[in-house]
Amino acid sequence: MAKVAAKAIEMADVQPGMDCVDLGCGSGRLALLMAKRGADVVGVDVSDAMIERMLLQARREGIGTVRGLVVPIEHFTVPAESVDLVITNYALHHLLDADKDKVVRAAFEWLRPGGQLVVADMMLGRGATARDRQIIAGKLRIMAKKGIPGYWRILKNAGRFLVRVHERPITLEAWSRLFEAAAFENVESSVVVAEAAVMKGIKPTG
Ligand SMILES: C[S@@+](CC[C@H](N)C(=O)[O-])C[C@H]1O[C@@H](n2cnc3c(N)ncnc32)[C@H](O)[C@@H]1O
Repeated sequence: MAKVAAKAIEMADVQPGMDCVDLGCGSGRLALLMAKRGADVVGVDVSDAMIERMLLQARREGIGTVRGLVVPIEHFTVPAESVDLVITNYALHHLLDADKDKVVRAAFEWLRPGGQLVVADMMLGRGATARDRQIIAGKLRIMAKKGIPGYWRILKNAGRFLVRVHERPITLEAWSRLFEAAAFENVESSVVVAEAAVMKGIKPTG
């Protein structure tokens, strides 16, 4: 996750004074980094413990430009054209596919012209493509090497993944379609590790 977060920050053009939103911010990995670069950040997470951890760390580091909101991403909103960057790392795969679509379209509305949406997450399907099968086989090999605990994880994760409870990743191509359907331009992506990638799109200025 750290590598993927680093790539997300590298692809996002964070400048001092920007208004940023971090969806599923957790303990503030991205939000705090952006605030240290001079951005005003709202971190959104469904877990009050995570938001508390982020704000505690902000206080420890003397960072005054991070706010936290305990709310499901699906219910979060801000006024139209009020932010410059919407970013998220390893959170949107928890959402139902229809909600992923809604969030991408909502982000388009929230962003000022020229604003950026950066989504970093697991990006894979359930085995329809050769890439999916390669990723799934790789993960199974790693877990199997861990013996009984590994086999238990395989069973647990396979159940969640196949039934799509909690873990609902979609492919890079599916994310790309969501970005394009919402009218983002200059959509680009980078595969960071086998299962995870970062996608960025820009709201047109014209
Ligand atoms: C794997 S953590 C990633 C945290 C952080 N983005 C990072 O890079 O370290 C996923 C986070 O998403 C949050 N989350 C999951 N589903 C959510 C939802 N529907 N609304 C808001 N937050 C959610 C979890 O509480 C958790 O903090």
